[in-house]
Amino acid sequence: MREGKTKIVEEFGDDVILRFKDDITAGDGAKHDVMENKGSICCEVTARMMKYLNENGIYTMFLEYLPPNKLHARKLTMIPLEVIVRFKKAGSFIRRYGGTDGEDLPSPLVEFTYKNDELHDPLMCVEHLEVLGITTRQVACEIIEEARRSAILLKKFFDQNGFELWDIKFEYGLDQNGRVCLGDEISPDTMRLRRSGQIFDKDVYRKDLGNPIEKYEVVLELCRNISL
Ligand code: TYD
Repeated sequence: MREGKTKIVEEFGDDVILRFKDDITAGDGAKHDVMENKGSICCEVTARMMKYLNENGIYTMFLEYLPPNKLHARKLTMIPLEVIVRFKKAGSFIRRYGGTDGEDLPSPLVEFTYKNDELHDPLMCVEHLEVLGITTRQVACEIIEEARRSAILLKKFFDQNGFELWDIKFEYGLDQNGRVCLGDEISPDTMRLRRSGQIFDKDVYRKDLGNPIEKYEVVLELCRNISL
């Protein structure tokens, strides 16, 4: 069993069971709270988003939703990267490169950050990944294409429902055959999602703008249009 900040992973035969906790954290764990139903909401959103991606030709870990807060998933060897796809400028992009919140990027941008708390998740390019032995150039290039394709599919889903997907974070692993597979989570915790200037993602929590659960529930209702 492995326990992270928001999930518990247990072996289940050749697969795994992911249990989503009610914990919500921000700023490298500096801010931490427990909110009722948060785990089940993020779990169900992840299940439905991954199902949608599966149906659109993306290979994901998702096998089955076990209500209220568990997923039956493929066992992966995770690659320690956060893969961020940005359609608009926000957050750390603005801190690094300037610009204004919500400003359009001319085309979707894929970034890698290395999951390492001590080093504060440094930004990395493909050369770093290869030279530091984090992953091969071929796998890194495959991840870039998969992440871009997945983000565009999700953006289309949200566009059709009147929401703007500003950016999103993915995590990848290799399955038992060494194939790149989308893992982890797809939820309001891992994306910036806006509608008419209103915030429906973890920025509500990061910036103390009210009760995030109420916003997360709106996203869940939307995702219920995707059948399981
Ligand atoms: P980013 O702008 O890099 O960081 P921050 O949110 O700290 O300003 O985040 C881009 C998107 O990726 C945003 O929707 C949040 C998500 N993300 C995570 O889910 N986990 C992470 O560890 C990071 C760095 C980003």
